[in-house]
Amino acid sequence: MRTSPFPAELTAAVDPGKLPGIIFSGWQSPSNIAFIKYWGKRPLQLPLYPSLSMTLQEAFTQTLVEATLHDGNPSPIMINNDPAHPFLGKLAPFLDWFTVKIPVLNQYSFRITTRNSFPHSTGIASSASGMSAFALCLLTIASEAVSLQLPNEHLMPMASFAARMGSGSACRSLFGGYTVWGETDLIPRSNDLEAIGITHVVHPSLTSLHDAILVISRQPKRLSSSKGHETMNRHPFAEARIEQARDHLTGILQAMKEGNLERVGSIAEAEALSLHALVMSAAGGAVLLEPATLTVMNRIREARSLGLPVFFTLDAGPNVHLLYPEENKSQVQRFIENELAPYCTDGLWIDDLCGAGPGRIEEVTRSPEFSS
Ligand code: DP6
Repeated sequence: MRTSPFPAELTAAVDPGKLPGIIFSGWQSPSNIAFIKYWGKRPLQLPLYPSLSMTLQEAFTQTLVEATLHDGNPSPIMINNDPAHPFLGKLAPFLDWFTVKIPVLNQYSFRITTRNSFPHSTGIASSASGMSAFALCLLTIASEAVSLQLPNEHLMPMASFAARMGSGSACRSLFGGYTVWGETDLIPRSNDLEAIGITHVVHPSLTSLHDAILVISRQPKRLSSSKGHETMNRHPFAEARIEQARDHLTGILQAMKEGNLERVGSIAEAEALSLHALVMSAAGGAVLLEPATLTVMNRIREARSLGLPVFFTLDAGPNVHLLYPEENKSQVQRFIENELAPYCTDGLWIDDLCGAGPGRIEEVTRSPEFSS
């Protein structure tokens, strides 16, 4: 198995005397919502089976990194001028992994400025957008340090490989449209080490799909992703789950190719219910759904039985992602406002849609965040 996608220029030892003193990098990277859920993993951050997601457009992280060459004593890493920022718990080990793989990064101290376009604890995966943005920043800093040109078609797969080490689902945030992470015979070049874009095998009607995020609760997560994934190591239904996810993948890929939204939505719903069934039936089972989650899911199904093309999916929490096609936008938005928003915390729901993937934040050096 391949162990690193990074070219020799990035992994070689370097003479610090030849490195630029300061490098800036800025990236905007989106979150994603899984239709086939990644749940359970093997070392090192490898999935038990392939997952599939839609990249979001409005929910993103913007990250700016200032790298300063140090003289052997790196300054403590800071996020938003805070050396004890809560995101450092996940980010610091990720940076350690990066510096082992790409030693030139060891020569630099990092100051990170980051912000999310969405409020916290709303059921939008900030680790996916945050880790993918950070991976892109570090890779562009390293390539600039060694004067290596990295066109996007090389950069994105490398960033996906790296982002996976920060958070599994983050590896699916590097491509626009739809993405698969995990080896499957159904998709050439798919593999466990990085995700690949699959939009070229998706019907164009699905590239404008909406995901309205209905914020049922803003309480912090009751189950961390890492604890949740761990339960799959000795889950009584693990084997059946792996088989089910593979069947769902076969079905959804066919439906996506045909543009069969009814089938795509039904499989996404089945996946969400399976995820929560796994959470509940694991040792020490947790209930992550709120009463309002159940009401909203049932209302969505009722509306569908009356002809409205609406479907739900969920992550490992109570908030509901409502999937609907662009052409029914005004009708669906009225339905949400009138019938679902009353079940949301402070009536909060966020309309998102299928997105274009990451983008570089230009002119970072002139950003006010970096003027000291
Ligand atoms: C339920 O990617 O957050 O959202 O790899 O431990 O960081 P780590 O887990 P994470 O897990 C996401 C799980 C999920 C399903 C999904 O996004 O596929």
